[in-house]
Amino acid sequence: MKIIGTGKMLPSLSVTNNMLATFLDTSDEWIKTRTGINERRLLSDEDLVTLAAQASEEALKDAGLTAKDIDYIICSNVANSFVTPSLSCIVEGKIDAYCPCIDINGACTGFIYALDMAESFLKTKNINNILIVCAEEPSRFTNWKERNTSVLFGDGAAAVVVTKGDDLLSLELNSTSNYEPLYYKLEMEKTPYNRLHEDFQPLVMNGKEVYKLAVSASTADIQTVLREAGLSADDVNYYLLHQANIRIIETIREKLEQPQVKFPHNIEKYGNTSSASIPILLDEMRRSGKIKQGDVLVFSAFGAGFTTGACLFKWNN
Ligand code: UT7
Repeated sequence: MKIIGTGKMLPSLSVTNNMLATFLDTSDEWIKTRTGINERRLLSDEDLVTLAAQASEEALKDAGLTAKDIDYIICSNVANSFVTPSLSCIVEGKIDAYCPCIDINGACTGFIYALDMAESFLKTKNINNILIVCAEEPSRFTNWKERNTSVLFGDGAAAVVVTKGDDLLSLELNSTSNYEPLYYKLEMEKTPYNRLHEDFQPLVMNGKEVYKLAVSASTADIQTVLREAGLSADDVNYYLLHQANIRIIETIREKLEQPQVKFPHNIEKYGNTSSASIPILLDEMRRSGKIKQGDVLVFSAFGAGFTTGACLFKWNN
């Protein structure tokens, strides 16, 4: 597999830490020092489908393809207002594509899971081009009455077009059933028969627990993909890590004994955009000319599940 096009679309509304401090018991100083976030983009007048479609169109243009060239759409999304049909089907119509469409929920690791599926599809099916769209609106399920989670997240969408090639050198996925540290339950309709008592609340997170799991799992996944590709940490040009907390990124960097310049970040501008965070960063880096032919890139993500994944590309685009 190789990535031949990238695109992104962020909501236009930028919400600073100080804006949040007007209605939450928090401060710019706390959020900046504990997370690295200065501001985040949040959906106001736009909807997620529009973001996803615009990111997809940008990626198609970048790849020099039209929607009709796409043979499959995989959309990574944690939650959106359409439980059915899938977001990928709706995006298909918006961009005027015609192909099989499927949504996946790998939480913040969704992009790596989608890459893994795309790699398998390209190997086993008679198809050429796959559109991966990561579209997330965590602002719609975080708890806006408390400060623990609402300050961390941002909305956004990013897309990549992948085709057959040899750029993906290794990929590692893991999933451990452990939902208590991070979950969101959707309230479903009442029936005359269902007797279960269920409590519903916005996103529940044990930040410290997630932090520890993230650092150890992400470091281990990166070491695995390096080993599988026969490379060392020094051989990598850039590590694109899930943008959840600058301190998590910094701790992983220290464990790998690598310089800061290899760990690009944009969490300060966008917060944690779940599975969209790595492809948003990838698109920014490509468009600013930072990624060069022959560069070795590692992507690594972690999220609810607990899911984790990493992969290693040698960029030949
Ligand atoms: O994509 C995966 C999703 N989630 C994550 O990756 C989250 C991973 N975890 C983290 O990033 C960090 O654990 C947090 C940023 C969530 C929290 O940072 P922390 O250094 O672990 O802080 P803490 O939870 O230990 O809280 C320290 C203090 C507490 O007050 P007390 O008990 O010491 O009086 C919190 O109540 O900070 C307080 N606090 C806040 N204060 C101001 C928690 N949130 C805030 C806030 N503003 N927004």
